[in-house]
Amino acid sequence: MKKRIAVLPGDGIGPEVIKGALQVLDGVATRFGHEFETIEQVFGGAAIDQEGTPIPEATLKTCNDSDAVLLGAVGGPKWDKGDVRPEQGLLALRKAMNVYANVRPVHVYPGLEHLSPLKSNKVKGADFVFVRELTGGIYFSEPKERNEKRAVDTLSYTREEITRIVEKAYDLASSRRRKVTSVDKANVLETSKLWREVVEDVAKKYPNVETEHLLVDYAAMRTISNPTSFDVVVTENMFGDILSDEASVLTGSLGMMPSASLSENGPGLYEPIHGSAPDIAGSGKANPIGMILSVAMMLRHSFKLEKEAEAVELAVFETLQAGYRTQDIFGESGTLVTTKEMVNQIHFRMLEDSTSAT
Ligand code: NAD
Ligand code: IPM
Ligand code: MN
Repeated sequence: MKKRIAVLPGDGIGPEVIKGALQVLDGVATRFGHEFETIEQVFGGAAIDQEGTPIPEATLKTCNDSDAVLLGAVGGPKWDKGDVRPEQGLLALRKAMNVYANVRPVHVYPGLEHLSPLKSNKVKGADFVFVRELTGGIYFSEPKERNEKRAVDTLSYTREEITRIVEKAYDLASSRRRKVTSVDKANVLETSKLWREVVEDVAKKYPNVETEHLLVDYAAMRTISNPTSFDVVVTENMFGDILSDEASVLTGSLGMMPSASLSENGPGLYEPIHGSAPDIAGSGKANPIGMILSVAMMLRHSFKLEKEAEAVELAVFETLQAGYRTQDIFGESGTLVTTKEMVNQIHFRMLEDSTSAT
């Protein structure tokens, strides 16, 4: 099977983790006999420097013409003050690809609870998924204005936008532990009142799925105080952004979390949830696991290669079990490794498992 993948390394640690992802993808190709054609394109701050725009036309065209897109991260202090920011490119790409459903799994590996700075007994067994609305809400709604005296952002959602993301969450919950937690601020916001109404409507079509509504402030607390009470958490764009970074602490680090952004029929966009981490860029400290697990999500969701996805996840698990740690997850024991060494360990196990599997 030949697949075409657009690769956007971006800025900061983006290129470092993308390099690792491509090495692991190469391992998948070797082990399972697939062919992956990768086409690298400039994106984000790097594209502003080269072409004056964070998302050049050729980059967007390559993404739209591909079977999937792998993205590192964008942004950095260099572009913070400019008229155009790298993050605008990311939002434009998500919108152009219509990837409205951002799936962010939070998985605490059995036996690896101690990676989290939280108490092990709290995080043990946590295994849930955020379904974050990604192409609407306050990130995109108009008017968005600014003058000397005032700045305006608008939060608006249509019934249709809410329905499609909520349905995604219920479909996912149906194949998991059949519970949906919907997070909103329905005690204050009109958009949240509509959100809750839509959830109630959709829930009627899924009688086997339990529904729970939480206000976002309490949801933030529950995320770290009782994370095993969640299965699928569905929420709007900004709440999902904030809660998923918070939840990454359960897994040990922001560097551990992958994501898939999905549209109805087009290519999926796969990226770790972390940013360009300017504080550690170029130092070999970046944890490549969130990016590598995003490759696994691409194999599963876009290419329907379940066995291959599981092989990547297993190689990550075994590498962690063997004690290899990047700085962000390094505790009292284990072997401290660089990004490159971590990738090599994962890549090696990917290939080694194939020889011992028969
Ligand atoms: P960040 O996610 O880049 O970093 C937050 C903290 O987590 C930093 O201490 C960083 O070193 C650490 N960290 C992040 N990823 C890591 C990894 N893989 N391994 C080890 N440590 C890791 O968030 P920030 O500092 O708030 O933002 C920096 C820039 O990234 C900003 O310009 C922001 O807009 C951008 N950003 C981009 C994306 C994206 O491209 N999807 C996501 C978030 C932030
Ligand atoms: C993320 C990031 C982006 C977001 C930024 C960089 C625009 O934080 O992917 O979580 O807020 O969606
Ligand atoms: Mn974020």
